Formats: sequence, C-alpha cells, structure tokens
Amino acid sequence: MAILEACLLAKRFGPVTAVEEVSLTVAEGEIAGLLGPNGAGKSTTLHMLLGLVTPDSGSVRLFGLDLDRHRTEVLSQVNFSAGYLGLPGVLQVREVLDAFARLYGLRHPARRVAEVVGLLDIGSLLKRKVIDLSSGQQTRVHLAKALLNEPRLLVLDEPTAALDPDTGDRVRRLLVDLARESGRAMLITSHNMREVERMCDRIHFMSAGRIVASGTAAELAADFEVADLEEVFLKVARQ
Ligand SMILES: Nc1ncnc2c1ncn2[C@@H]1O[C@H](COP(=O)(O)OP(=O)(O)O)[C@@H](O)[C@H]1O
Ligand SMILES: [Mg+2]
Repeated sequence: MAILEACLLAKRFGPVTAVEEVSLTVAEGEIAGLLGPNGAGKSTTLHMLLGLVTPDSGSVRLFGLDLDRHRTEVLSQVNFSAGYLGLPGVLQVREVLDAFARLYGLRHPARRVAEVVGLLDIGSLLKRKVIDLSSGQQTRVHLAKALLNEPRLLVLDEPTAALDPDTGDRVRRLLVDLARESGRAMLITSHNMREVERMCDRIHFMSAGRIVASGTAAELAADFEVADLEEVFLKVARQ
C-alpha cells in the first residue's frame, strides 16, 4: 500500500513559484530521497506533505486517507525532523522528550521515552539543557523526539547536515534499521550524495519546482549516462 501519495502539488509565495508541479508516492518500508539544488522546492514540498503549508492546488493522501479531511488521524502517524527546527533550549533533554510524549498523547509515555533514549543512545544527555548540546547531540535528540509516536512515515529535511562523518554514519544506520525492521517509511532530503546512494530505495530529483527524474541511484546514473549520483546532480542542476 502507498503510505504517501502526493498528486500535482503546487505552491507560490507571491511572485515566487516554489513548487510548480510535484507528484510523488512512497511505499511502506521505503526510504525515499528528495534531491535537488538549493531553492528547488524540496522543503516546501515536505511542508505541504506535512500539512504545514497549504498547497495552492493538488492533494495529499497519507495511509490512504486525504490529509485535508483526516488531518488529526493522519498526522498522528507522521513525524518530522529538520536541522532548522529548534527545540526549547532552556529545557533539559528529558523535559523535552516528556513534553512531546504528553503532547502526542502516548499511552505509555515513560516507557516510550526510555525506548527512544536507548535507540538514540542519549541516556547520558537527559539532564543536559538542549542549548548546551553539540549539533550532533541535538540531532540525536531531534530524532528521538521524531520517533516518539512510532510514526509510519518519518519526514527528515537534511537530518545529517550538521553531523561529523562518524555520527552521520551511525544515524544513517539507525534510520535504515528502523525502516527495515518496522516497515517505517521515510522521506529524506540531503545534499550528501553518498548518503542518499546508501540509504534510499528510490530517489526523486527536483529542479525549479518539478520532479525531473526518479529511480534508484543506479537507474538514474544509467539514464543520465554518468558514473554516480553526484554527477547526476551536477547534470540536473546545470541543465
Ligand atoms: N515562506 C516562504 N515565503 C516566500 N518564499 C518562500 C517561502 N518558502 C520558500 N520560499 C521560496 O521558494 C523557493 C523554494 O524554497 P525551498 O522549498 O525552501 O527549496 P529547497 O528546500 O529545495 O532549498 C525558494 O525560492 C524560496 O526562497
Ligand atoms: Mg530546504
């Protein structure tokens, strides 16, 4: 079953067309990648899929339900993390996770907080204030928060941008394991082509508000007659 079906999404901000026309599906257990140069419309697309930005036209179905008509039911099964989202810096990590667990109305909040703390290996950070954490530590806290409600779809906007190669690698493995073990679907943006090659089952390239190519990393490289995704990116961006 399709976890996500976006049909002909479009969005303008005044004179700027951020998204011209985007249609996209993500299947259960799939890790999908959304790539493209700065300003291509990736974040705006994600924000429409999450109900954060209202499209000018087009529709979004999540888990077979229309996002507009079943907003609460649908969004309770989704979560989102992005480098540009702040968490309340004066709170301790434990307080942040407890607050979100309550906000999400989890049935066993304390148990689930303990689980995500284990998954992201952040037990030693629980008493620290968010503002005092390194960006890698903050990313792990963000991901812990994003997993609290056991989302069927996890949307991640440049999740590993602030991470050193070692921490980035750990986070990537964790995300892949989560998708493989639980059938959780993910939609990820990244400018790290190796990361996308390794993680994503299917990749969608955006340019100027449109998806201009879709496929596996190998299919895209073959279509564009280049060696790898990095070269696909350069070709798409310079067309
Ligand atoms: N809230 C907004 N108001 C005005 N313009 C916006 C807004 N959000 C995005 N844009 C514009 O839409 C275009 C696409 O932006 P964005 O979706 O952030 O691209 P990407 O994530 O691919 O870098 C850019 O030109 C950006 O300046
Ligand atoms: Mg963006």
